[in-house]
Amino acid sequence: MTISRRGAITGAVAAGAALACTRAFAANRGTLGAAAARAGRFFGCAGQIDQWNAEGDLRDAVLAETDYLVPEVELKWAAIEPNRGQFAFKSLDGFMNFAARNRKKVRGHTLLWHDSVPPWAQAQLRENRDWSAIGEYFAAVIPRYGGLIDQWDVVNEPIETGGRMDGLRENVFLEAFGPEYIDRAFAQARQFAPNAKLMINEYGIEYDLPEERDRRYLLLKLLERLRDSGVPLDGLGIQSHLDLRKGSVAVNAVSAFLKAVDDLDLFVVVTELDVKESAYTAPVDVRDRFVADEVRRYLEAVLEQRAVTGVVTWGLCDRHSWLKVTPEDLARFPGAWTHGGGPGLNRGLPLNAAMERKPVYFAIKDQLSST
Ligand code: G3I
Repeated sequence: MTISRRGAITGAVAAGAALACTRAFAANRGTLGAAAARAGRFFGCAGQIDQWNAEGDLRDAVLAETDYLVPEVELKWAAIEPNRGQFAFKSLDGFMNFAARNRKKVRGHTLLWHDSVPPWAQAQLRENRDWSAIGEYFAAVIPRYGGLIDQWDVVNEPIETGGRMDGLRENVFLEAFGPEYIDRAFAQARQFAPNAKLMINEYGIEYDLPEERDRRYLLLKLLERLRDSGVPLDGLGIQSHLDLRKGSVAVNAVSAFLKAVDDLDLFVVVTELDVKESAYTAPVDVRDRFVADEVRRYLEAVLEQRAVTGVVTWGLCDRHSWLKVTPEDLARFPGAWTHGGGPGLNRGLPLNAAMERKPVYFAIKDQLSST
């Protein structure tokens, strides 16, 4: 099955060698996808098609472990429409072809995000309050892959604490159209995706910190307002970028928040799970245990909620994580690595750079398969 330039899906599925390699990786001890399926959930990961095409070991692991794939960068407005009406679909078509060939579903991440608006569109929205720029973009992207994308992050990160009373982020969409930009975006998405699940995706709701307490409250208020307004909103994505520098996850607050989301008859997906480490000078086995223990605590609380239908990690192996060991991290440990070595990669994903399963892999698998 391939996606032609016209965007139509044609031809027979070419599983072939890929399936054989996939089976090899999955042979021992099952997979995250299988564990999730046993409990009626799904597991997926984000990534970039160029990396999967270039690295067979990573590709085999992704195909073996997942049911869902998420384009880390390929389905963002700034990447797709660099100039108005000129669409660069090559990378995204490649990603979607890969998913179709391997019978994976795709989460559509993401349609409107303040961090990925093409400069021409920012100018158009600010100067002319021209919704057609958004409508034409949605018309070009959403129907192109049909049912392959059955969940859309229609609006990503709409909340900004410490600002407006309604907590809405002061982004170009709000400036141009007011708070109802969210309503319009969902109505427009529903027009092109009558059967997909339409979602809001947000970060920073996991800890007992003032900003995160505020974000849970403001996000819930937004969800309530959208539901009361009859907006075609189906679910919430909680990005779940855990951060060991913030202390322990506030499991009771997260549970109460997710129960309140469930009471709005919305489903929930953990959409971008990974872990920013803190103790980089600890032995690797200790670092890996810290990561696994926190993910276990978090998923134990989250997956107790019936509203939560799946877990996606933001990458599958540490090799390409967006989470880097930064100069600020190193500055916290002066002289720690004067005799060479160093902390290596941030170790916040299920597989290490050698594609080996770490304790956090098994923590995720245990929690996914819990009913
Ligand atoms: O591909 C180009 C490369 O050709 C160029 O040399 C290089 C240097 O400029 O940039 C490369 O593109 C980068 C792209 O990632 C692919 O690596 C972009 O600059 C960079 O901005 C982009 O960052 C992504 C970011 O979203 C913005 O799209 C991260 O990989 C991705 O992990 C991150 O993901 C976000 C979610 O969408 C929303 N939630 C937070 C999450 C982490 O920030």
